[in-house]
Amino acid sequence: MPDLIDLRSDTVTRPTPEMRRAMADAEVGDDVFEDDPTVRALEERAAELLGKDAGLFVTSGTQGNLVSQMAHVPRGGEIIADERSHTVIDEAAGHAVVVGASIRTLRSGPDGTMDPADIARAFRDREDVHEPITSLVVIENTHAHSMGQPLSAAYTAAVAEVAHAGGVPLHVDGARLFNAAVALGTPASALVATADSVTFCLSKGLACPVGSVVVGDRAFIARARRARKLLGGGLRQVGVLAAAGLVALRDGPAGMIDRLAEDHTNARWLADGLAAIPGIEGLDPDRVRTDFVIFRVPDRTGFLDALAREGVLMVPWGREEVRAVTHHGIEIHHVDRAVEVASRALAATAIVRA
Ligand SMILES: Cc1ncc(COP(=O)(O)O)c(C=O)c1O
Repeated sequence: MPDLIDLRSDTVTRPTPEMRRAMADAEVGDDVFEDDPTVRALEERAAELLGKDAGLFVTSGTQGNLVSQMAHVPRGGEIIADERSHTVIDEAAGHAVVVGASIRTLRSGPDGTMDPADIARAFRDREDVHEPITSLVVIENTHAHSMGQPLSAAYTAAVAEVAHAGGVPLHVDGARLFNAAVALGTPASALVATADSVTFCLSKGLACPVGSVVVGDRAFIARARRARKLLGGGLRQVGVLAAAGLVALRDGPAGMIDRLAEDHTNARWLADGLAAIPGIEGLDPDRVRTDFVIFRVPDRTGFLDALAREGVLMVPWGREEVRAVTHHGIEIHHVDRAVEVASRALAATAIVRA
């Protein structure tokens, strides 16, 4: 059997040999006392890259979004977010269970943006005791459910203007923010210049084994640190994990940011190949801007099973779609093989259905 081609997610990436060495050699301390030098270095590097005052290492993107909500939103508050966002669909209702907030969901378009005018209209009346207190706006960049569309600095600025005019902060769920930066050719700091807080993930396309970083101003980070502690996320000699993040965030070819361009090229190549196969539906390769490829097939379960039997893994996405994600470790020949296997899988499922 040839190598497994795992396109389920960019989260399946493994740490590079350099990361493993850095982890083994990491200088550590007790991070709850804030004296782990490697964690501090990672937090400073993340803050510098995103143009913010301070950073906080957290265990995951979900935890980063949750501590950000806890730091920004009072109980009885309300968050405005896209109905197709990770915060709304995929975080186990942490906003309700832990933060004590409601979410006012809005529609987003195929480019992953909500209309700033809809956001403005979604603000509640602060003077009316019946209504929840609008307390935060959240956007997601890249936007997963629109096939990883990158959101521009201009769009983020337009949303920030509305949020700030209503007296609330803007949080960016930038789980894949560096994919957006690379796709748009815009520095990540420019993409989030008008945002008040940002979460980005180390453990996705950047190939680290664990972790995300939240950035913002010092007062926000102090509140987020307290929230992280409450969630049991105050870790000790966690420099062993942060060390991998410092490797990932290096400039140029020594780091893992610039190489995301390869994943985007491979995703486009995959989409071109898949779109040419009869039976693949709803896939416009021109819309592939980052590492996500999303499409429909007539028999999703049969298709995924047939792929898996030949060593190619993709995942069900939403109610009826399939998602494939390119990442570190997936090379062009893997993409060619995935397309070949997909073609056979579709032909096989078509025969079974006939
Ligand atoms: C857009 C987005 N936000 C947040 C997360 C949460 O990250 P984690 O799986 O590290 O909790 C994900 C995970 O895939 C994501 O896609």
